[in-house]
Amino acid sequence: MHTNSTRGFHRDTRIDLMKEFTICESLSDTKSPYMTVLPEPRSYGAMVGDFLTRQGMLRQGSTIVELGGGYGSLMRGLMEAHGRLIRKVFMVDLSKTLLKRQRERLMDYPGQVSFINADIHELIHAFRGADLVIVNEVIGDLDTLTGLDPRHLPGEAFALIDRYGLEHPARERFSLNSGAISLVEALCSLEIPAFISEHSCDPLMPGDMPYLARGLALDSFPREIPLSGHSEYTIRFSHLMRVSRSFGRKTASGPLIDLLGITDSPALRFMFLGNACSTEKQAVTSEFLDHVREYRWLTLE
Ligand SMILES: C[S@@+](CC[C@H](N)C(=O)[O-])C[C@H]1O[C@@H](n2cnc3c(N)ncnc32)[C@H](O)[C@@H]1O
Repeated sequence: MHTNSTRGFHRDTRIDLMKEFTICESLSDTKSPYMTVLPEPRSYGAMVGDFLTRQGMLRQGSTIVELGGGYGSLMRGLMEAHGRLIRKVFMVDLSKTLLKRQRERLMDYPGQVSFINADIHELIHAFRGADLVIVNEVIGDLDTLTGLDPRHLPGEAFALIDRYGLEHPARERFSLNSGAISLVEALCSLEIPAFISEHSCDPLMPGDMPYLARGLALDSFPREIPLSGHSEYTIRFSHLMRVSRSFGRKTASGPLIDLLGITDSPALRFMFLGNACSTEKQAVTSEFLDHVREYRWLTLE
């Protein structure tokens, strides 16, 4: 067994998120070429805020904590669209380089936003009483136990699997998102409402676009995504849901495509199934759909 950790990378490296194709950065600016996939241009942060308002999770006077805010683009979009609802924001990140970028991106909100250089796992307990925690495309970076032999599970993996009844392969070696599971455990025991999104290994397809499942494994276990200087792992959302339900938390999950308001159309279907792109705009749309179809959101209320 090995533990994949990205702590050293995030703490000590000058990180360039442009090498990672994050959904948030792809949709951070309404002039981005990826906006063509949306029904109307809207930043990712604004859309997450729309969604959380509809869910009743973003309310007047909210105190929000964002863990691993990257370049600060989600929070910038959220503040621009819904800032009047937000009383206070705490941005927590392990990377000093990225915290500097967040400060620059959020400089229009002095006093309202504070920045904290810390490890998520070490600080989460300080946020008991927060109204909402946002964790966007971060949990795949948290520790993952890899190369687990189901017949000889080491103590840490066995304890999690046993405590929450987590399903796993009968024979093949597999990986377990231990860091993501422990964050969800903490959020549940602290009773903090949360919005989480990440690249999944058990994706859900939008009801009107089942064809997006073509060529995808819909019920698999975390797989490595090698990136510049580190690796992250896809997330088994069904495990996180089992954990949150065992705490009695109201939890929901769905495809990120639904949150973005992307709906079926003959043109999209033709382009995706036929791999038929005759313009740059179509190629960009197809590339984005191929990537985002594996992403899920999860809420803990
Ligand atoms: C892939 S980036 C995502 C950034 C942004 N949320 C987005 O969606 O574009 C991961 C972020 O989580 C931060 N991060 C990773 N591990 C962390 C940890 N253990 N504690 C605090 N921040 C962490 C990184 O520094 C970075 O800001």
